[in-house]
Amino acid sequence: MDVSSSLIIFSFASLTLSSVGLASANAPAIFVFGDSLADVGNNNNLNVPLDKLANFPPNGIDFPLKTPTGRFSNGYNTIDYLAQQMGYKQSPPSFLSVENGANISQGVNFASGGSGILDTTGPAITFTAQISNFKSVIYDLTKQMGKEKAEEFISKSLFFISAGNNDMFAYYSTTGAQNITQNEQFVTSLVEKFSQHIKALYIYGARKFGTIGLSHIGCIPLMRSKNPIGKCNDNLNGLARNFNTAAQVRMNQLESMLKGMKYSYGNAYDLMSIAMATPFLLGYKDFQSACCGSGKFNGKDRMDYWMSQIYTYSFMHKKHLVTASYVNDSMSGLHERAKGAGVTILGEMGLDPGIDHMMVMKMINQAHARKGKIISFTSYCGGLPSPPAANNPLAYKFR
Ligand SMILES: *[C@@H]1O[C@H](CO)[C@@H](O)[C@H](O)[C@H]1NC(C)=O
Ligand SMILES: *[C@@H]1O[C@H](CO)[C@@H](O)[C@H](O)[C@H]1NC(C)=O
Ligand SMILES: *[C@@H]1O[C@H](CO)[C@@H](O)[C@H](O)[C@H]1NC(C)=O
Repeated sequence: MDVSSSLIIFSFASLTLSSVGLASANAPAIFVFGDSLADVGNNNNLNVPLDKLANFPPNGIDFPLKTPTGRFSNGYNTIDYLAQQMGYKQSPPSFLSVENGANISQGVNFASGGSGILDTTGPAITFTAQISNFKSVIYDLTKQMGKEKAEEFISKSLFFISAGNNDMFAYYSTTGAQNITQNEQFVTSLVEKFSQHIKALYIYGARKFGTIGLSHIGCIPLMRSKNPIGKCNDNLNGLARNFNTAAQVRMNQLESMLKGMKYSYGNAYDLMSIAMATPFLLGYKDFQSACCGSGKFNGKDRMDYWMSQIYTYSFMHKKHLVTASYVNDSMSGLHERAKGAGVTILGEMGLDPGIDHMMVMKMINQAHARKGKIISFTSYCGGLPSPPAANNPLAYKFR
């Protein structure tokens, strides 16, 4: 599971920014690491399951051209707002979209939807791999500006991190997060790994860090939709609070240990609590549902998991796909990816629509060949009868 179905999180992204006091005007660039809250298109270029992709509607529907960009959001995401607040025209490009060191002068975004702090969380570009990608950008910067300037540039830049959400979801889905001792151990190990990532970035020259802590991950529409009365999942929220507390303590320790390091820990949790308590004061009409999607609270996954797997395998193995599914936005959104893989998807190829249309066209063509004229055409369809009544070879009955 991924936080991508939590489109609501983005609607308060702009609120949280004011708490990242670090956003100093003189940072020459922003380097971004993390998950789908920060991804601006890296996953577009990956062969990952479709629930880890965002390059189809309803993502991007609130952009001027209503185009999905790879952001797991109806519009801009946290990073975009952060970059805007810092005075940039746009947020830094995704790592996988920059070629040969072009477009890196205002930073690069390494974030990958579905990733976490742990390397076992995914599939996605893991945090560790994101740091390796950063290494290659350091190489390019050094080539462009020389060692000394590149070091100064990196030390003045902002390192922005959004991570931990998917680790929590993965932990929750395997354990249920009922055992308090185990929860504490998990949070401790997560914070330890997080601090290792920060240290690795520090060693590569990063000095200014900004993190928006975990928010009410138990209240995302998908989680609410799983509760009979639409309540938040308190276990997940508790894990988020525990992580925030422990991570802040650890960041404090790091700051006193690592010379020149500065950090800001955005308190997304409390901001969200305030917003949830008084949504109307902030101009929100509904703080429980996602902007778009389907199912309860618009929290249903965009595409059934198995459908998404079938498409993914057909792209991976470059096999054409015939399906009975109706063509809808999710399927149309796969156009570019299907084209890239050289795969044809033929939708609406079941019985009705599907076989009926083909059989009808055959009859119509025969009639035309004999100079016939079609006056009217009505299609009747049937259904799957109960097993005892399925007494013909098709196991299907017309009515
Ligand atoms: C990236 O750099 C290339 C070459 O300098 C330029 O043509 C292109 O417009 C840039 N793309 C973005 C997104 O800035
Ligand atoms: C809770 O987790 C701890 C640590 O993993 C384990 O030792 C203990 O047996 C667990 N308790 C229960 C009731 O499962
Ligand atoms: C599109 O169709 C697929 C397959 O039937 C379904 O899983 C998915 O939820 C649909 N998407 C939308 C946006 O209706």
